[in-house]
Amino acid sequence: MKKKILIGIPAVLALALVFFGPELVDLVRLQTYLTESQEAYQDNKGEWPHLTDACEGCHGRNGNSLHQGYPSLAGQPESYLATQLRQFASGERENPNMSPLAMTMSEEEIQLYAEFFSRQTAKENQFFDADPELQEQGERLVETGGCAGCHGASLTGQGEFPLLAGQGYDYLLKQLDAFASGERKDATGVMNSMVKSLSADDRKAIASYMASLSPSH
Ligand code: HEC
Ligand code: HEC
Repeated sequence: MKKKILIGIPAVLALALVFFGPELVDLVRLQTYLTESQEAYQDNKGEWPHLTDACEGCHGRNGNSLHQGYPSLAGQPESYLATQLRQFASGERENPNMSPLAMTMSEEEIQLYAEFFSRQTAKENQFFDADPELQEQGERLVETGGCAGCHGASLTGQGEFPLLAGQGYDYLLKQLDAFASGERKDATGVMNSMVKSLSADDRKAIASYMASLSPSH
């Protein structure tokens, strides 16, 4: 009986292949694709539930934002991300979206988020069209300002110094304005003194330049 069934299955499959050949091959391909994507997803994010899904509505898939006002998190240095989450939680940095959210995070979760987003590849800011003149002015200001000394040669960040290349324009401008007004302060006050000598137009030019840089080199 068992043997008959064993012979029976391949026979049915062979018949099915004759009748539904191409569709069946497609189905098998689809199944393989789904399994592989599921495995890649879980390798990246771990088992369900994925804590980071809660962030992606605003920060984009894997932390690559599609909106100039919401910062990308992908590829940011791990320790920078963790510091910012701790600052939102303690009230040192304030934002109506982030402060209440960070206050509910345990230290373990903060480290998990920071580690996850720092591992993701930052994509180009393809939805931003910079005005070429502003961009050039921004480039000069960034050079004379010595921004690369801390933020890295291509402004791609390191340690406590955030990645700036390819970040959203509205977000960058808001941060430069907030450092200028003192609404945002960093631990050493270095950013507050960096932007002091910049006019509002300078800050726009710098934001345009940095938003249009590629974050990948
Ligand atoms: C409702 C929208 C929203 C959600 C959901 C959200 N964020 Fe944010 N996040 C923001 C905004 C807006 C800012 C920029 C705040 C500012 O302007 O200072 C921000 C800033 C940040 C920053 C600082 C980025 C930088 O470059 O300094 C980190 C880190 C961050 N969010 C992490 C997270 C994590 C982790 C989650 C998921 C648990 C999350 N966010 C969910 C809106 C959101
Ligand atoms: C001496 C080191 C140093 C130099 C030079 C420096 N920065 Fe920074 N910058 C920092 C640090 C540290 C932070 C993170 C502050 C914090 O933790 O809140 C920062 C944060 C920023 C941010 C916020 C990024 C984000 O994701 O929220 C912007 C924008 C920025 N810097 C732009 C500049 C520009 C433009 C220049 C040059 C004119 C510059 N920085 C020069 C140290 C520096």
